[in-house]
Amino acid sequence: MSDATTSPSTEATPTSTEAAGPDDPDAPVVIGHRGASADAPEHTFPSYDLALEQGADYIEQDLQMTADGVLVVLHDDVLRRTARGPEGSCTGPVAEKTLDQLRYCEVGSWFEEADPDQVDAAFADLAIPTMEEVLDRYGPDVRYYIEIKAPDPDADMEEALLALLEDAGLGSPEDGSRQVLVQSFSADSLRRLRSLRPELPLVQLTRAGEPLDAAALDQIAEYAVGVGPAAADVDAELVEAGHARCLVVHPYTVDDPAEMTALLDLGVDGMFTNTPDTLVDAREDHPAPLDPEGCAEADGSS
Ligand code: G3P
Ligand code: CA
Repeated sequence: MSDATTSPSTEATPTSTEAAGPDDPDAPVVIGHRGASADAPEHTFPSYDLALEQGADYIEQDLQMTADGVLVVLHDDVLRRTARGPEGSCTGPVAEKTLDQLRYCEVGSWFEEADPDQVDAAFADLAIPTMEEVLDRYGPDVRYYIEIKAPDPDADMEEALLALLEDAGLGSPEDGSRQVLVQSFSADSLRRLRSLRPELPLVQLTRAGEPLDAAALDQIAEYAVGVGPAAADVDAELVEAGHARCLVVHPYTVDDPAEMTALLDLGVDGMFTNTPDTLVDAREDHPAPLDPEGCAEADGSS
């Protein structure tokens, strides 16, 4: 069982991460959804390591906040699905646990329970990472695509994230850098971030079936540089309408190579995938359609 003292955050960053980032800056981006979560337990260091080894341009984090105000990386707001350990610490809402309690939980064995073919010694004894530990481990050269998962207006998740990014030297992106993208389904959370740190690029997620009409895109373009729709909601009209507003279009979550190719043919600017290596292959010969430089005047980025 891992705890704060045995956290892998103190380990050296794998050399494979040094090559993170697209070889071709104009290529559609590969976003490692929860890491390379088809092949390693989501939101663990092995999952992020593998995503980077596979060529992901970004590693994705979903953030929850503990009862004592620490941002941890976990998709669900409750622990049952992926955490194992003492019931008092490792079941129930994350927001009701302290970080010390979460240190009793491990988040690897569920993956092997779900698929015994995926047994790997590297998946034993994996802790729930804090966002600070992720930034410490991977450093300023890796690209992060961070989701504020369940913002609570009283919890100040946005301020906490900005403080961590500031400490990591990533809080004030210059020259339109998109090394860190922050995403959320909550427009309120993104607008709050926008008011606190206008230069931080933001992506508005939308739920499957949620309309993304001209009026919605106009509103999103006021504070975001992109939209993250469910893949099934993407068509040529949406891509064109997003690009007309200088919004990149990053659908979620796509693992099938044929679906990847179809979306790339529609002109998307990247996508979330549990299998980054598949998208690295699929994106060959697909240039990123939106020229950010052409939009620099519109959104202040390049
Ligand atoms: O953030 C894009 C995608 O991850 C949204 O879905 O539920 O996997 O966070 P979810
Ligand atoms: Ca997510």
